[in-house]
Amino acid sequence: MLVSVFISCRNDFYRINVTNLTFAFIKMLLLTCTGVNNIPYIVAVRRHPLNMLWAVMVASLANNALCTREPRPGMVTSGPPPPHYPQCRPPPAACTPLYGNNNDTDADTFYKYNVNGNIFTISYNNINKELDLTCPLILSQEKLDDSLPSFRRVVVIPAVYIDSCERADTSYVALLASLNVTGYRKLTLHISQRPVSPLNSLKFVGLNLTYLYIRGSLNEITYLSDDFLEPLKNLTKLHLIRNLSVPPLPPSNRLETVITFDGISRDVWGGCEQLLVLNTSSWGWNTSTGSPPPGWLSDCPKLIELRLRSPKLGPRPEEALAKALVGLKALEVLEISRSHIESLPSDFFINSTNLTSLDLSVNRLIYLPSTLLQPAATKLTTLLLYSNLQLPDLCDYDHHDDGDDSDILSDVFAATSVLRLPVLQQLSLSATNATRICPSWSRDLPALTRLELTGNSIHKLRFEDIKWLGARYSELHLTGNRLQSIDYYMEDYLQIIQGHCTKFGLAVYISRPLACDCHSYWFARTVAECPDHLTWRRPLRCSSGASVAAVPPASMVCPRYPDECAAGCTCYWRERPDATIANCSDLVGGRLPLIPHLHELNAAANQIESLENFPATLIYADLQYNRLQLISPEAAATLFSVPHRRLLLAGNPILCDCENKALIDKLQLHRQQVEDYHEMKCVDGRVLSSVLIEDLCALSKTLVLVYSLSPLAVLLILALISFGYFSRHQQLIKIFFYAHGWCLCLISEGDLDRNKKYDAFVSYSHVDEHFVFEHLVPQLEGEPHRFKLCIDTRDWVVGEWIPVQVALSVEESRRTIILLSCNFLDSVWGRLEFRTAHKSAMRENRSRVIIVLLEDVGNHQNLDKELKAYLSTNTYVKWGDPHFWEKLRNALPRRSNEAEAHRAGEEVAYELQRMTERRLPAITAPTASVDF
Ligand SMILES: *[C@@H]1O[C@H](CO)[C@@H](O)[C@H](O)[C@H]1NC(C)=O
Ligand SMILES: *[C@@H]1O[C@H](CO)[C@@H](O)[C@H](O)[C@H]1NC(C)=O
Ligand SMILES: *[C@@H]1O[C@H](CO)[C@@H](O)[C@H](O)[C@H]1NC(C)=O
Repeated sequence: MLVSVFISCRNDFYRINVTNLTFAFIKMLLLTCTGVNNIPYIVAVRRHPLNMLWAVMVASLANNALCTREPRPGMVTSGPPPPHYPQCRPPPAACTPLYGNNNDTDADTFYKYNVNGNIFTISYNNINKELDLTCPLILSQEKLDDSLPSFRRVVVIPAVYIDSCERADTSYVALLASLNVTGYRKLTLHISQRPVSPLNSLKFVGLNLTYLYIRGSLNEITYLSDDFLEPLKNLTKLHLIRNLSVPPLPPSNRLETVITFDGISRDVWGGCEQLLVLNTSSWGWNTSTGSPPPGWLSDCPKLIELRLRSPKLGPRPEEALAKALVGLKALEVLEISRSHIESLPSDFFINSTNLTSLDLSVNRLIYLPSTLLQPAATKLTTLLLYSNLQLPDLCDYDHHDDGDDSDILSDVFAATSVLRLPVLQQLSLSATNATRICPSWSRDLPALTRLELTGNSIHKLRFEDIKWLGARYSELHLTGNRLQSIDYYMEDYLQIIQGHCTKFGLAVYISRPLACDCHSYWFARTVAECPDHLTWRRPLRCSSGASVAAVPPASMVCPRYPDECAAGCTCYWRERPDATIANCSDLVGGRLPLIPHLHELNAAANQIESLENFPATLIYADLQYNRLQLISPEAAATLFSVPHRRLLLAGNPILCDCENKALIDKLQLHRQQVEDYHEMKCVDGRVLSSVLIEDLCALSKTLVLVYSLSPLAVLLILALISFGYFSRHQQLIKIFFYAHGWCLCLISEGDLDRNKKYDAFVSYSHVDEHFVFEHLVPQLEGEPHRFKLCIDTRDWVVGEWIPVQVALSVEESRRTIILLSCNFLDSVWGRLEFRTAHKSAMRENRSRVIIVLLEDVGNHQNLDKELKAYLSTNTYVKWGDPHFWEKLRNALPRRSNEAEAHRAGEEVAYELQRMTERRLPAITAPTASVDF
C-alpha cells in the first residue's frame, strides 16, 4: 500500500511517499520535533485508516532525502509576490520569485525566492508587523546581500524572526538592511543545525535591541562569545534556549529578565546590576564538580525572582545551593524544584526576609528544619512542597506525650513546627504521603485560603480539620485520596444546626465516594439537614452510588467482629441511636441469639420457638416467620417491658388458647408496639386481633352451659355477666372498644391518655426556670388539682440523650406546655421540643400543645413559620392575664369525676395491669353462680 504523507514545515509542503509507514517512522518524526516557534506538522495522510490521528501529529521533518518538495495542491499560487512583500530587484541581482501562499484569509502567508541558488522563505504579516525570514540550512555566501529581495520602501518592523541565516562574522544588520527593514527592537534567532561559528559581538554590531531570543542548534552546543552582549546596550530581556554555553555577562548590561532553558553557565553570572528575574530550567555549570560556582549570583542585588527548575547541582546539591545563592537579599519568589534536594540548612533563608513565594516541589525533601522558614514568616504567602514523597508528617506534636524518647521526638517536633506562617495563603502538600490535616494548622496558618493535599493517603476527615478553613473563603483539594469517611461528632452537628446552617466559606474537592458507614453518621445528618454548610465541587456519593443526602443516616453501619456477635448472625454497629444490630439468618437451637448490648434484631425466617431471656436492651425485633407458638407468662411479661420496643411477629403459629393467654393478653394490650399486629394469626387461622381474651379460657367452660340452657337464658345470663363486668371493669372495656374501633363516641380522650405518666411536660428555657419552680409547679401540682408535671431537671433520667428524652417526655405526657419567651426561642432545644410535641399533637389530631406566653415575642427572629402559624390558630395563655391560672387549668386534661381518676397516670396504668391479671377470677365468678 502506498501512503502519502503531506508535511508542512515552515510553509513548505513536503510529500513523503512511503510504502511501509511504520510507527518507528512516526516516532522518528516526533523525536526530532524542533520546538514551539517552528512547528512542522503532518497535514494529511492519504489512504490510511489512521488518517485523522496522524493528521494532527506534531512532527518534524527528519530527513530531507525522504521528501520530494511539492506545493500542496490548491494552496499555492505562482506568479509574483504580493505587492506588500519584498520584491526581487532587477538583474544583475540573482533573484527569482518562486511561489507563495497569497490567500488573504490565511494569516500564515509566505513567499519563496531563489536567491543565487538559495531558497529563501519570507513570511510577512503587515498587520502585526512581524517578519519571518528562513534561509536554507546551508547558505551559499557569495553575492547574497545584493541579490536579496527587498521591500519597496523602508518598513519599520518591531519584531523579526530569523531562521538559519547566520553568516560568518557578519552582523544581522546588513541582512535586514538589504531587505529594507528598520526599527526592529525584538530579534529571534534560530541557530541552524550546523552553526557556522560562535555567536560573537560582530553578529550584533549595530543592532539596537531590547529583546533577544536565541534558540540553539539541536545537535551541537552553540557558544556565546564572552563579548556577545557588548553591542546590545539597551537589551533588557534575554531568552536563551537549548544547547547554549553562556559566558559571564558584561558588567555594563541592563538586563532585567533572563529566561534560560537547557544550557550551561561557563562561570559566575557576571554583571547583573539590573537583573530582576532569572528563570532557569535544566541549567548546568561548567565547573569541575558541575555545581554552581560559589556566589554565582552575588552581583545581582536586585534579583527578586529566581527559578531553578531541574538545575544540575552536582554531588551535594544543598551545599552547592547555599553557596551559590549567597547574597540574594531582595528575593521575593524562589523556586528550587526537581533538584533532588533532601533538605536545606536551617539558615538558608536567613537573609530572605522579603520572600513571599517559595516552591520546593518535586524534590526529595526528608527534613525541614523548624526555623528554616522563620526569617520569611512575616511575608511568605505561597509555599509549594508537592511531590516530596519522603516528607515527614508536618503536624505539631504535643511535647507532653513524648515520654523517654524525647531526643528522637524533639527532632520530629523540630521538623514539624516549620509551618508557623501567619500570612501564608496557599500551601501545597500534594503527593507528600500526608495522612492527615494537622490540628496545629488552624493555629499556625491563620491566613490559609488554599490547601492542596491531592494524591495523598488521607483516609478520614474530621469537621475540626476543615472548619477553620471556612472562616474565610478557602479551597481544600483532596482529590486522589482514599477518603473513606467524613467524621463529624454530635457536637459538630449541633454547632452547625445551632448556627442555623450558616455556610462555611469552604469549597472541598474530593473524587471518591465515601464508605458511608457508622463513622459518617453525623456528617450525613448534617448534610441532610444543612446541605449547603460546605460547598462540594462534586456531588457527594456513597460507594453504593447513592447521594449521601439520600442515604438514611441510621442505615450507616459498621461491621462488628464475629466474637461480639453470635453464630448464624452478622452484627453491625450504628452511631445513632447508639446500637448493635444483628441480622440473623441461620440461627440454631430455636432461641434468641445472645449478643451483648443488642438493640436491633432482624431474625425473620429462622426457627425461634422460645423468647426466654429476651434482651432488655432490644428496642426493635423482627421475628416474623419463626416458630413462636406458646410463650411462658414470664417471657410474655418481659416482651413489652421496654416502653418503646417495636416488634414484628406475623407469620408465627401462635397458639390461641387459655394456655397462651398471657402472651395474647400482652399482645392485645401493647398492640401499638407490634407493627404487624393486624397481620398476626393464630395457628387455627383466626386473626389474632379478633380473639377475645375473655373467650380464651371462659368460653371453653361456659360452652357446657350453653349447650344445656336455652338460647334465651344464655343471652340473659351473658347480658347479666356483661353488665356486671362492665360496671366493674369499665375502663378496660373502653380501651377494648376503642382498639376495635367500636363506639368511639363513648370514649373520651382521658381514656386514651390514662396510661400516660404525666399530665404535662413543661418545655422551657432554663433562663425561665424561676417561673417554673416559683409559679407553675406550686400552682398546678399543689392541692386541689394535683396535676403531675414532667420537668426536665427533676424528672429526666440522667445520661439519656436529650432528643430521646424529649420525645419520651412528650409521649408520656398528656400535654406539652411551652413557656414561650425570647429565651425559649433562642434555645434550639426548645425549638426541637416544640416540634416533637407539635408533631405528636398533629398526629393524634387534637391539641396537645399549650403555649404560655411569658412575654411578647412577635418580632423575634427565631419565631419560625411553624410556631407563628401555631400562635395564630391556637389559643395561648398569656402570663399577666387576670384569668391566667383558670385558663391554663382549663387547657390541661380534664379529670373525670370518678374518685379513682384522681390518681396519677402511673397508678392507673398499674391498676390496668393488675386488672388484666385478675381477669380470670373476675369472669369465672358469675359463671360459677350459674353453675349453682
Ligand atoms: C535604541 O532604542 C531605544 C528604544 O528602544 C531608543 O530610545 C534609542 O534611541 C535607540 N538608540 C539608537 C542608537 O537608535
Ligand atoms: C524588602 O521589601 C521592602 C518593601 O518592599 C523594601 O523596602 C526592602 O528594600 C526590601 N528588602 C530588600 C533587602 O530588598
Ligand atoms: C439487616 O437486615 C435488614 C432486614 O432484613 C436489612 O434491611 C438491612 O439492610 C440488613 N443490614 C445489613 C447491614 O445488611
